[in-house]
Formats: sequence, structure tokens, C-alpha cells
Amino acid sequence: MTDKTLLLSHDRGVLTITVNRPDALNALNREVLTELGILLEGPLPPNGSDIRGVILTGAGERAFVAGADIREMSVMTPDEGEAFGALGQRVTRLLEELPVPVIACVSGYALGGGCELAMAADFVYATGSAVFGQPEVSLGLIPGFGGCVRLHHRVGPGWAKELIYTGRRIDAVEARRIGLVNRVFDTREEMLDSAAATLAEIATRSPVAVALCKSAIGDSVGRTTADALAVEKAAFRKTFTTGDMREGTAAFLAKRPPSFPGR
Ligand code: HXC
Repeated sequence: MTDKTLLLSHDRGVLTITVNRPDALNALNREVLTELGILLEGPLPPNGSDIRGVILTGAGERAFVAGADIREMSVMTPDEGEAFGALGQRVTRLLEELPVPVIACVSGYALGGGCELAMAADFVYATGSAVFGQPEVSLGLIPGFGGCVRLHHRVGPGWAKELIYTGRRIDAVEARRIGLVNRVFDTREEMLDSAAATLAEIATRSPVAVALCKSAIGDSVGRTTADALAVEKAAFRKTFTTGDMREGTAAFLAKRPPSFPGR
């Protein structure tokens, strides 16, 4: 773990990860992606199991992340390019597979790999200054950190294709309208406070159940309905093996708030 290109802070069970390369609008180079990979492989600091949610953001108001680092990519060989794409895909997958909810908080540019990073979060909050887009085709590249896959799952193939083929940028309001963004805020502070409040609300629910919902939703992508329902069925069965389910149902019947053991 490092505090150089990633800033980490934690408060009441929420880990905030800030991509910190403001001079390059937080562009993702190999160093940032490698550090993110090491961090997300866990356990999350300070003590893995205490973390109940993650906020992912970029340093400063100008950018969440303005993409993968174009300077680095411009001189990569095909093998290096492939390895770089694989690294970005691994990082976004690790984020997606965290057993706790992740909220991307976007101010300013979330372009290319930045938009792809945000889409690996469970949901996206934005300020009015946010700008989203997949401009890769303007550079002779394609979205390679999962953008071709995740954008169409978020917004449907029509919008995904229009955004990816044109490389057009959209603002926060448009991004909310098409389902890329959940909520839009006036200020960064309001956005971060709201994300922390949402994560605190989720933290009052059964952590096991939330993690099972996250994996059932994530694992449904790309499956047939029958296969996805089988995954959900197995996850539902699993809840009957947990202390959380016994406590949640007992608390309801006893008309008291639950105190989930988290297992
Ligand atoms: C490297 C970047 C960068 C990037 C910005 N910078 N984006 N460096 N990679 N993606 C650097 C600039 O070179 C500049 O450095 C500094 O950040 C400030 O940027 P400016 O361009 O001067 O700022 P501004 O005029 O405000 O324009 C902001 C911007 C523009 C619209 C966001 O920077 C821009 O278009 N950036 C590229 C966006 C993009 O195409 N992203 C997708 C990349 S491809 P200096 O040293 O000059 O001050 C991608 C592929 C993912 O993400 C998949 C890979 C497998």
C-alpha cells in the first residue's frame, strides 16, 4: 500500500480511496493501477473486516480520472498494451468483486478508463461538474478496462454504442438520465457526505446478505435467465445458514432492531 498516487482514509467503516495524480488529471498509469490492484486484493486497510463500504474518488475538482495514461500508452508494444489492458481489467474486476458496496464519487472528467473505473463501482454519484465519456476511438484505441462490457450493461446497447462509437462526452444530468449515474449533487462535499450516509445505511443491514446480493447481481451479467436464477437460488439458500438471517427474522418477530453478527 502506498500513499503516493493513492490517498487512503477511513472513517466509521468507510474506506475512501482517492486517485491522486492531479497534474495528469488523475490519469491511470501502470503505477496507479498496480497500487490499486495490491490494495483491492485486500485485506482492505486498516483491518479488512471492519470496512463496510468504499468510496472511490479522484483528487481535486477537475477530474475523477481523465482516462488511462495516454503518454504511457503511446509507446507501448502490443504485448505491453495487452498487459496494460489486463491490469485495468483486473483492477476493475477486483473492485466489482469486493464483498462490500463501492460508490464512485465523480467530480469533473470521468473519461475512458476513468468512466470504466467508475462503472466497476456498485453505483455512481456525481457533481454537476462531472463529464463522462469513452473517447478511445478518437485515439485509435477502444475501451479496454471493461467499458465495452459494462457500459452496455449499465445503459443498454443503444446508448453504449452511441457513446463509444462517437466518443461524445455527456454531462452529469444526461448521465443520470440514461442510468449511468444514480444521483447528482451541487457540491463535492454534499456528494461525499451523501455517499457516506448511503454506506452507513447499508451497514445497518446484514453484511452477509448485502454481499450475497452483490454477487448474485454481478454474477447474473451475461448469464441466461435460468442460470442467473440458479445463482440467486443458491445465494438465497445460503442465507438460511447464517446467523444474520436468524437474527434478522428473530428481531422482526420480537419487534426490536436487529444486531447482525455479520456471518
Ligand atoms: C495522460 C493526461 C490525460 C490522460 C489529461 N492529461 N488527460 N495525461 N493521460 N488521459 C494531462 C494533460 O496532458 C496535461 O498535462 C494535464 O493532464 C492537464 O490536461 P489538459 O489537457 O491541459 O487540461 P484541459 O485543457 O482542461 O483538458 C482536460 C481534458 C483533456 C478534456 C480531460 O486533458 C483530455 O482530453 N484528456 C484525455 C482524455 C481521454 O482521451 N481519455 C481517454 C484515454 S484512453 P500537461 O503535462 O500538458 O500539463 C483510455 C483507454 C482505457 O482511457 C483503456 C485502456 C486499455
